[in-house]
Amino acid sequence: MVSAVLLVAAAGVAYMAVSVPSGLRSNIAKARKVGLPYIVIPCSSQNILWQLTHKFWVFFIRLLPKPLWEDWLFYLLPDWGYADGQEPWDRLGDTFLAVSPGLITLNTQSPNAIHQITSRREHFPKATKHYSILEIYGRNILTTEGAIWRFHRKATSASFNEKNAAHTFAEAIHQTQGMVAKWVATAQSDTPTITTLEKDTMALALHIIGYVGFGIRFTWPGEPLPTDVDPRMRKYGSNTPPAGHTMTFATSVELVLHHILMLLLMPQWLMRALALFMKAPRAAYEANNNYVQYMAEFLADKAAAAKEGTHSDGMDLMGQLVRGRYENERAASKSDSHTKENALTDDEIVGNAFIMLVAGHETTANSLHFTLIELANNPASQRALQADIDRLLGRDTDPATWNYESSINLMLASMLGAAMNETLRLMPPVVMVPKWVSPQADQQLAFTETGQTHLMPAGMDIALSVVTAQRNPKHWPPAKGEAVNGRTTDLDSFIPQRWYRTDSSADPKEAEVDGADTEDYGGFKGPDTSAQMFRPVRGSFVPFSDGPRSCLGRRIAQVEMLAALAVLFQRYSVELAVDEWADDKTVAGMSDNERRELYGKAQAKSRATLRSATAMLTLKLHGAAAVSVRLVPRGQERFVSIVA
Ligand code: HEM
Ligand SMILES: *[C@@H]1O[C@H](CO)[C@@H](O)[C@H](O)[C@H]1NC(C)=O
Repeated sequence: MVSAVLLVAAAGVAYMAVSVPSGLRSNIAKARKVGLPYIVIPCSSQNILWQLTHKFWVFFIRLLPKPLWEDWLFYLLPDWGYADGQEPWDRLGDTFLAVSPGLITLNTQSPNAIHQITSRREHFPKATKHYSILEIYGRNILTTEGAIWRFHRKATSASFNEKNAAHTFAEAIHQTQGMVAKWVATAQSDTPTITTLEKDTMALALHIIGYVGFGIRFTWPGEPLPTDVDPRMRKYGSNTPPAGHTMTFATSVELVLHHILMLLLMPQWLMRALALFMKAPRAAYEANNNYVQYMAEFLADKAAAAKEGTHSDGMDLMGQLVRGRYENERAASKSDSHTKENALTDDEIVGNAFIMLVAGHETTANSLHFTLIELANNPASQRALQADIDRLLGRDTDPATWNYESSINLMLASMLGAAMNETLRLMPPVVMVPKWVSPQADQQLAFTETGQTHLMPAGMDIALSVVTAQRNPKHWPPAKGEAVNGRTTDLDSFIPQRWYRTDSSADPKEAEVDGADTEDYGGFKGPDTSAQMFRPVRGSFVPFSDGPRSCLGRRIAQVEMLAALAVLFQRYSVELAVDEWADDKTVAGMSDNERRELYGKAQAKSRATLRSATAMLTLKLHGAAAVSVRLVPRGQERFVSIVA
């Protein structure tokens, strides 16, 4: 018995000893042929075993002499893109390969390469293997490619129109007022510091995406249900679990998303067993059961409404998909010639509704969360933003009266848009976009930087480094003053004013990409940057990716964030909390200079906290990392009115 085990183990080791070096040798040979700089790594960074145990190995690797690992170890650490900034690229160039025994990955932060790769969808498709686990509730737009993706994209993109963006604008205003009311209550209490910034922005984004995806009107604790809601839909927005459920729809969504990795990776039977005695699997299991049941009921309710011909006129992606299928069936029964070409199945409808939650919840919440923190870190920018709100929307107006059509583009081209863009530049929720070379054929890729063309081997992985492309000093001018030693020094800082530079970097006669997929796949078609604002070089600002597979929800996300910022900062300022250094009485007795010095400590700490963000699905503050703030009515600031 023992000898059998030993034999198997020895065979395993022997197999590794032969196959790993031979895989590595052949991959190195392949990489050499590409002709770009490369590093060699002992295993792929996508290796699950490595991801789970890397801390252990890194500890030992670092005990070895530095020359053995200093060139490549960074690549095997999660978040090197966000954490290391330009350093690896300074050494290796803007495009380099990482070669492991099983995989070659092309990494690039070159704007032109990013532009070409995102445009040539058929040559460089989305690497859907990274997303297939997100099919747990059904196949969908995010997880597919080719003809199937095209079908999902066409079916869902119809809802992403300007009429629905206007509905979302109104709902975002209403929901932000709910969040602000909660913060005002905190500000007026005995413990005025807000420690729930992350939780509250997540709730806000959930309420809005619930509206976008399902037409549901969520309420904040203590807020009454809106009266103009279809009775059939009321239970979904309810604050207490409706009959037949153990949790509210909002809680089930929140917990499903929170435990998404567990739900995706752990088999149902194991979760059910662990749920008997462990808290997290129990929450995940219960949330999943509730969510699945809600979806089944929702499908039935929407189908019934479609048959009656009743529907609300807000945005309601899932309702629209159900209606689409019903109308198709009716048309098909009238004439045999009609095919059901545009209708998704129930599973696909549920799958797409879920993917809107995944794609649109945490991304938007984090961006808003980080924007609030950065505006607290940068008082001058906060004041400029408030001045723009006063100018565009009025300081005393009722946000419920704000008009989408006449305001949104002005808001986008103001400090509101600049603050949002600057956060998306510095802390994009999606730090890396995965593509690959189509397995059908090798592909030529021309690099404008060197004027050389390289042959990309079929099937090679590609990682577009969004976060470092957006901080690359070769393609971004400095916001203030001159570059030092040919390098911009302020690209790691939050300076929304950089979006006001008039000397655009973009080439006005931007080259067409050969082999680009230029078909219309729906989604918002407006210009990427307002004519009078700074226009980054194409491919150097890609928080929503670019090309046919770019974010379908871009306009919705922008509308939502702009509305939230405008509602909040119209009446209030946000200041970093200083409780850790001084109590309120002490602050009250301080001179302006003492306050500036005190605030400096809070700014330094907050900036360090932001630097500690990590990406699991999206870039976010994880664990205990958090920034606390105070909400103060404008005119009653203690710090942001006097700090530069
Ligand atoms: C700040 C907020 C957001 C950011 C930064 C963002 C970013 C992105 C990025 C980078 C992609 C491409 C991913 C890839 O190719 O791997 C993407 C795709 C997508 N996003 Fe967003 N997103 C945001 C908000 C939203 C919202 C609010 C929705 C829905 C209402 C949404 C729906 C989608 C969908 C459906 C796709 C897949 C499109 C396709 O593959 O055809 N996103 N998003
Ligand atoms: C922010 O970026 C969007 C495109 O993503 C653009 O339309 C808008 O004009 C930009 N705003 C500013 C102030 O530059």
